Amino acid sequence: QLKDNTIIIVLGASGDLAKKKTFPALFGLFKQNFLPRDVKIVGYARTKMDQPEFHKRATSYIKNPNDDPDITAKIDEFKALSTYVAGDYDKGEAFDELNAHLEEIESKYQSKECNRLFYLALPPSVFIPVGKNIKEHCYVSRGGINRIIVEKPFGKDLASCRELLSSLKKYWTEDETFRIDHYLGKEMVKNILVLRFANVAMNAMWDKNSISNVQITFKEPFGTEGRGGYFDEFGIIRDILQNHLLQVLSVIAMERPVSFAAEDIRDEKVKVLRCIPPIERSDTLLGQYVSANGKPGYLDDDTVPHNSVCPTFAATTLWINNPRWEGVPFILKAGKALNEAKVEVRIQFKDVTQGIFKDIARNELVIRIQPSEAVYLKLNAKTPGLYTRAMPTEMDLTYKRRFTETNIPEAYEALILDALKGDHSNFVRDDELDVAWKIFTPILHWIEGKDGQRPKPVSYPYGSRGPKELEPFVTKYGFRRNNEGYSWPVTNMA
Ligand code: BG6
Repeated sequence: QLKDNTIIIVLGASGDLAKKKTFPALFGLFKQNFLPRDVKIVGYARTKMDQPEFHKRATSYIKNPNDDPDITAKIDEFKALSTYVAGDYDKGEAFDELNAHLEEIESKYQSKECNRLFYLALPPSVFIPVGKNIKEHCYVSRGGINRIIVEKPFGKDLASCRELLSSLKKYWTEDETFRIDHYLGKEMVKNILVLRFANVAMNAMWDKNSISNVQITFKEPFGTEGRGGYFDEFGIIRDILQNHLLQVLSVIAMERPVSFAAEDIRDEKVKVLRCIPPIERSDTLLGQYVSANGKPGYLDDDTVPHNSVCPTFAATTLWINNPRWEGVPFILKAGKALNEAKVEVRIQFKDVTQGIFKDIARNELVIRIQPSEAVYLKLNAKTPGLYTRAMPTEMDLTYKRRFTETNIPEAYEALILDALKGDHSNFVRDDELDVAWKIFTPILHWIEGKDGQRPKPVSYPYGSRGPKELEPFVTKYGFRRNNEGYSWPVTNMA
């Protein structure tokens, strides 16, 4: 664990990610006394700004809605331990200046040992020069630990990912590298391993004998506003499915790890991903949102090329060729500009054996990742009273109700703390990325027109549930919408 004499250096400190996620997470950890004693934070970016301007930006997303004086005091303390250095990303001299600043801070430490955690909140175009420059100009070699945190995108396909990985590996070992997929820091994603392996009951029903289909869904109620330029180059599959949803799939589907040690967990994740063949075109539905209810369509965004066929919605079905999951469709769905914000895993079980019930609802286990974390199991129970009839009901573990005093940490808080501790469990290993890209690269190349004409996504209105083709798509894989309404006639008992 990085304890004393630690500096956290945030590169890309003037950017959106740093402002919205990194600094608020660092503050959250600081406020709860999870950062190392006497930690210092140093921001680095190209933008020239003085310390007050930097402090203003770095704290602009830290919440203190009721002007709580304790939080205000903590924010002031946080500012006092944070400094800023401006410099280019591709110039060694600029990193010498950064290093001089770090050494000046470290010269005040009692002991010689110094630790540096570099957080790259940067666009992919500068990952490699920055990785190199830090190693060559800012790496502590006189005792102490250096670590580097990197953020997606890790390439655009298998070849570019391999190239990126090998370029960074020239300077940073796998052990020093922490690749973030922030979905792995979410409380409910971390909960999946506990739910599965700490409960005999869950574990017993976790396979093709009981499960009909699994859906992992990501819905956002806003479009690409302001990020159209970036998004158009990547598309929804690279933005969400290939990383966030596939990570969730791997923890849902992996075998029991030998232990909870990072490499044991990651070994199992890689193993299950290797059983997934590349996605078929026929198992894919692509959509793009169009203007509705006064909201702009994707193509109305000035930063998007006017004839773009980039998908803002995708549903793809993955198959896992192992004895546990053979024949069970894993449907990954993600979309921008939909009717709600929701991320969930929905595991739908098979029908009960025919004979005594007619039209009875299927069991479903839902893990709601956000918002309002919950795990609930839809199950049929006898309607209370003097009749014998079944009704669908649920066993409900809603976190807000069950854990009233608990504050659920932000994903980035959990992950930065793990990186400080040197725990890789919730970071993405190199071979995991490789296999993830193998699954998605053919479909991405097809979408990009590498094999001919680019497929045109179907349209869906901004604010809708997605393309109208979605319902038949999920039905094709055996998903059955359960009778909503919870009013069941006596006749449902045959
Ligand atoms: C990011 C994507 O990785 O995840 C964004 O680039 C997306 O497009 C975001 O909005 C979603 O994260 P969260 O934590 O808000 O679900």
